[in-house]
Amino acid sequence: MSQQVNGRPAGGATTAPSQDEVLRVNGLTVTYRSRGRPVPAVKRFALSVGRGEVVGLVGESGSGKSTALKAILGLRLGTETEVKADEIVLDGVDLRSLSAEQARRIRGGQMSMIFQDPINSFNPSWTIGSQFRRVLALHRPDLSRSEYDDEIIRLLAGVGIDGRGKLKSYPFQFSQGQLQRIMIAVACASKDLRVLLADEATTSLDVTIEAQVLELLRSLRRERNLAMVLVTHDLSVVAEMCDKVVVMYAGEVVEVANVYDLFERPQHPYTQQLLKAVPHFPHTGGRLYAMRGAVPRLDQPIAGCTFAARCDRHLGSICDTVPPELRPTATDGTAVAACHLVGGAEPARKD
Ligand SMILES: Nc1ncnc2c1ncn2[C@@H]1O[C@H](COP(=O)(O)OP(=O)(O)O)[C@@H](O)[C@H]1O
Ligand SMILES: [Mg+2]
Repeated sequence: MSQQVNGRPAGGATTAPSQDEVLRVNGLTVTYRSRGRPVPAVKRFALSVGRGEVVGLVGESGSGKSTALKAILGLRLGTETEVKADEIVLDGVDLRSLSAEQARRIRGGQMSMIFQDPINSFNPSWTIGSQFRRVLALHRPDLSRSEYDDEIIRLLAGVGIDGRGKLKSYPFQFSQGQLQRIMIAVACASKDLRVLLADEATTSLDVTIEAQVLELLRSLRRERNLAMVLVTHDLSVVAEMCDKVVVMYAGEVVEVANVYDLFERPQHPYTQQLLKAVPHFPHTGGRLYAMRGAVPRLDQPIAGCTFAARCDRHLGSICDTVPPELRPTATDGTAVAACHLVGGAEPARKD
């Protein structure tokens, strides 16, 4: 791509590939339109996920995480929304080279998504069995009605739910935790599934149920070697579940690192400030750090670094005028960060 996005060259910066890569995204840019104005919600997003790898996607609300995942999955984002990408490669096939129908089939079979609110993912007036059967029919058109029910009961057993006698029940007859498990079973119904995208999938659950659902995701990864992208604002979930972390801010990837380095040696000031805002126990006294300000408006151009106005390590005019590119950090060679403090001599303070 040659056009400019918010003053930055589009395409360009990428992140190092994961081992045994199963999903690669580069140069993903999504622009909504709101009251006639373009809202660049995702800019030059890049992601590499290895087979069986769990990648965390973190960043404050409004940083573009959900939009990025939906665009990768090819969900409709509105008729006025523009989605561009240099590549979206799933298991070696660039989805952009396929017809819409072929891409839809591959996406449905090999990549799926689970959401925060299970109750909204089901139609309240249809039984769980009929909703599950519709999805399963896409993957297994060969089965008879009774075979579908047997398969659904087997898939539900895989997420810890005894589905016998329950296929005629409606969504409201299940608890939220059960519905979340059923949603995971539906999302994993294709035996070709390679990548599961989870958007705040445990956020609305209470802690005990959340722990059980996280354990379920871990076992799916182990047993089916599933790759996962976990969107979460809970850094303890990241620490517990993820191998690698992508940090987003105002629509852009600002840091990528393996989970150990990210917590031990965060390079981008945004990541450092996010980590500082996490309470530690036992609490050692003093006030909790709270990041000042808010994510900037996306419908207005930002000249320099999008994080400059909130940055505790602001260097001077370079941060306000020059957008930093993603550059390798000094950690393990696969890590990158977009900050003028990273990957070169520290520029002299100008003011
Ligand atoms: N349908 C839409 N139309 C216009 N702007 C949108 C739409 N959906 C999301 N946005 C904007 O895109 C930005 C990113 O949103 P989102 O992807 O939901 O972020 P996150 O998931 O990180 O909270 C936000 O500024 C949000 O207001
Ligand atoms: Mg979101």
